[in-house]
Amino acid sequence: MSAFNRENDGEVSRGARAIVALPELAANGRRDTEARLDEAAGLAEAIGIVVAEKMPFKVRAPKAATLFGSGQVETIASAAEEAEAELIIVDAPITPIQQRNLETATKRKVIDRTGLILEIFGERAATAEGRLQVELAHLDYQSGRLVRSWTHLERQRGGFGFLGGPGETQIEADRRLIRDRMAKLRKELDQVARTRTLHRARRQRAPWPVIALVGYTNAGKSTLFNRLTNADVMAENLLFATLDPTMREIAMPGIEKAILSDTVGFISELPTQLVAAFRATLEEVISADLIIHVRDISHPDTDAQREDVEQVLTEIGAMGEGRAPLIEAWNKIDLLGEEEADRIHAEAERRENVVRISALGGEGVDDLIAAAAERLSEGNKVRKVTLSAADGEAIAWLHANGEVVDRRDDELETEFEVRISDADWARFQNRQRRSA
Ligand code: GTP
Repeated sequence: MSAFNRENDGEVSRGARAIVALPELAANGRRDTEARLDEAAGLAEAIGIVVAEKMPFKVRAPKAATLFGSGQVETIASAAEEAEAELIIVDAPITPIQQRNLETATKRKVIDRTGLILEIFGERAATAEGRLQVELAHLDYQSGRLVRSWTHLERQRGGFGFLGGPGETQIEADRRLIRDRMAKLRKELDQVARTRTLHRARRQRAPWPVIALVGYTNAGKSTLFNRLTNADVMAENLLFATLDPTMREIAMPGIEKAILSDTVGFISELPTQLVAAFRATLEEVISADLIIHVRDISHPDTDAQREDVEQVLTEIGAMGEGRAPLIEAWNKIDLLGEEEADRIHAEAERRENVVRISALGGEGVDDLIAAAAERLSEGNKVRKVTLSAADGEAIAWLHANGEVVDRRDDELETEFEVRISDADWARFQNRQRRSA
């Protein structure tokens, strides 16, 4: 299914040429214009659109009819003409009316940021839940466009000038279909969510800690994930290459085994229709034992991106008092100039829980692993336990769940000193009691 609404003729195909128009509104003046344009182009390229030109426009008073001022609309139209672009991407949410008016004025198909992100999510969602959530979001977006679409108004003006005319009936029927489909999807989603909770409960009983990688889109999570696990998750210079969480085991000093989970990239101004889809994929993060926040420290908006990520983490209850510890991995240090590198280095030194890395080149990644292992085993105490030399299972359990710091064997018994968390220690004692 396509995110582009039905009133648009046909679909935006891969390889379509486009220009990106960024309305700079007072509300989002904080971010770097160039970086915003790059991000919008990145979104378009993620679904195979060729971006011929990127243009920012200062919009002081957004127009209800076209968003941009009339001179700006003319500029956009002639730029599209010149670039031989068949598509105009407006990097902001626009109303169906604005979309239709801009299409008429520029004689080109216009899509907005929401449509673009929906399209990407539609292509990338891989799990059942991800797909259901995205379809739900699509329908929600479409139903809004059906009601107030230009076609609808046009139909009314064109002779059926009263509510309940044929045009209206058709739209009503469409809306009902959409509503029914949405209700069905919500039911399916409930079912999927229940199954997932079961899976998670089962996994939580497993003795391994879970580490969640989070970060703004394109920060380098998948690259780091692959480096840490030797897995082959799609790492591309594509926004949202990762939409559904991917889990793999990794070995760490003193921990034996942990589970690393890669998650969907964050993005600013996420369409409201997609917030639920996005959060569903983030549920893993809530139950993680450690969060690694991967940041593209070379990005001009790295601070704003950090705020976006932290805000969502706080909202979903994954960050704050009593939550899992968090490490910031300042990635892409290989891209920093000398002066910038010095400044970043000094700043990192001042902060706790910051590790500078290059996920691509590998620099600092060992430090990150060490820091993660340390945070995970913090609060672990060294305890002494004496086991019968024949109790192979208990010995193996201790090795798997704790860090054996000392071991003295004699003929009949083995004395261990093992660093282990309170929870694991309690589990061990229960286990011994049961088998006694
Ligand atoms: P999403 O899937 O959008 O969430 O992105 P991601 O965070 O998983 O990013 P990904 O690993 O796909 O990396 C994005 C781009 O940054 C790719 O082109 C990587 O090659 C590049 N990249 C990642 N880490 C580094 C790094 O340390 N240095 C440099 N120079 N590039 C990097």
